[in-house]
Amino acid sequence: MVERLTISVDYAPRAQFRAFHGRTQRFGCIVAHRRCGKTVACIADLMLAALDNSGVRPRYAYIAPLYKQAKDVAWPYIKDFVAGFRAYATVSETDLKVTLPNGSSVRLYGADNPDSLRGIYLDGVVLDEYALIDPRLWPEVIRPALADREGAAVFIGTPRGRDAFYGVWRAAQREPDLWFTAMLKASETDILPEAELNQARRHMSASQYAREFECSFDEPDVDQFISSLVVDQAVARDAPALGPRLIGVDVARFGDDRSVILRRNGDRLVSVDTYRGLDLMEITGRVTQAIDRFRPDGVFVDAVGMGAGVVDRLRQLQYGRIFEVNAGAKPRDGSKFANKRAEMWSTMRDWLRDRGGLAGHGELADDLVSLTYGFDHANRLKLEAKKDLKARGLPSPDLGDALALTFAQAIAPEDLRAAPGWDRAAPETSPFAEL
Ligand SMILES: Nc1ncnc2c1ncn2[C@@H]1O[C@H](COP(=O)(O)OP(=O)(O)O)[C@@H](O)[C@H]1O
Ligand SMILES: [Mg+2]
Repeated sequence: MVERLTISVDYAPRAQFRAFHGRTQRFGCIVAHRRCGKTVACIADLMLAALDNSGVRPRYAYIAPLYKQAKDVAWPYIKDFVAGFRAYATVSETDLKVTLPNGSSVRLYGADNPDSLRGIYLDGVVLDEYALIDPRLWPEVIRPALADREGAAVFIGTPRGRDAFYGVWRAAQREPDLWFTAMLKASETDILPEAELNQARRHMSASQYAREFECSFDEPDVDQFISSLVVDQAVARDAPALGPRLIGVDVARFGDDRSVILRRNGDRLVSVDTYRGLDLMEITGRVTQAIDRFRPDGVFVDAVGMGAGVVDRLRQLQYGRIFEVNAGAKPRDGSKFANKRAEMWSTMRDWLRDRGGLAGHGELADDLVSLTYGFDHANRLKLEAKKDLKARGLPSPDLGDALALTFAQAIAPEDLRAAPGWDRAAPETSPFAEL
C-alpha cells in the first residue's frame, strides 16, 4: 500500500519570480538587483523541485561564494521553508542539509570549499552571486555532477563587469530553448521602496548604482570617487557665504597645466580663476591680490614644485596664515587614508554631498567626477594617480585640486578667533570646522 503524505508549504513567491518557478528549460540565468529576493527564490525553487522529484534519492545543492554566506544567509531561509512540515524533514545543522519525506535532499555549500562538491551527483544546483564564484568551479566540478541525472542548473547574481557571469548571461540569451533568462532591475521590479533607492543613490557612485541596482554589466568594479549625482546637487545648491574665508592655490607644475586660485567662504564657492603660463613672481602677485581683496582666514598652497616657491615668497612678503600643503604627506588619519590627497578629497566629497554649494560653478564638475579610487595594501583609501588619469586621456583636475586644498585643515573664521576663549578652543571644535 502506498501512503500519501500531504505537505503544506508556506512560501508566497514574489511576482517577479513566478516565471522562474514555472520555467521549462533545464538551465537558468537571472541577473538581478541587490535585495530583490534572489536567495529566497532560489532556495524555494530547489525545495519545490526536491519535493516534486519522485526519483531515487534526488540531490540538490545551493552554492554561495563562501560557506559562511551559505550558513548565515541561505540556511535560515531553508529552515523557514521547512517550518510548516518540520516533523517530516530531517535537518542537519552540521551538514547544512535537509532530507525531505520523499528521500530528496537539499544541501548548502560554499564555493570556497570546492572539494566538498567533488564526486557527487546532482539533480539540480543553484549558483548564487555567481559573479563572486571562481569560474573554474562550473566546468570542473559542477557540470560533471549534473551528467548522471541530467540535472538542472541556475546561475543568479548581480553584475560585476564583463566577467564569467556576463559570459553565461550572453550565452544563455542565445539559446532560449535551453535557458530561462531574466533581468530584474530595481527601476522595474518595484520591490525596493523609492525612498530606499534614492538613499542608496546618494551613497553610491553613479557607476556603482547602475551595477548594483540597474543590472549594468558595463560598470566594472573600479569606481568614480565622487558621483555625478553628488556633484549635480552641489552645483544646484545655493549655500550661504558664512564661515571661514579660504583661498586654495593649485600652482601649475608643467607648462601645459593651469594655475588656479579659488575662493571659498564657508559652504559657498565664491570664485575660481585660472591662469596659464605665469612665472613664480606673476602667480605670487595674483595670490597677493586675491588675499588683499578677499581677506582670507587661511590660504592653502599646493607646495609641490613651483608652489613651494610661491609659499616662500608669500612668507617673505609677511603674509600670514599661509598653509603649505603636500598631497603626498601623511594624513591626519593614517588608518583610513593613504595620503593627504585622499584625505582632502574625502573631506571635500562629504562636504559636497551634505552642504557644499557650487552654484554658478559647473565648470568644476568634470574635474570632480574624473578620479577613481582604490585601496592600498593596508586597506587605506587611495585616489587614482594623475599619471593614470592622463593615461585615460583626462586632464589634470586642477580646479578640483584647488577646492580640495581648502579642506587640508580646519580653519576658524576671524570673528570666532576674536571671540573670548578662542585661545583655548581647538579649530576642530569650532562650529565651522571642516574636518
Ligand atoms: N517571497 C518573499 N516573501 C517575503 N519576503 C521575501 C521574499 N523574497 C525575499 N524576501 C525578503 O527580502 C529580503 C531580501 O531577500 P534575499 O533573497 O536575501 O535577497 P537577495 O539575495 O536578492 O539580496 C529578505 O529580507 C527576504 O526575507
Ligand atoms: Mg542573496
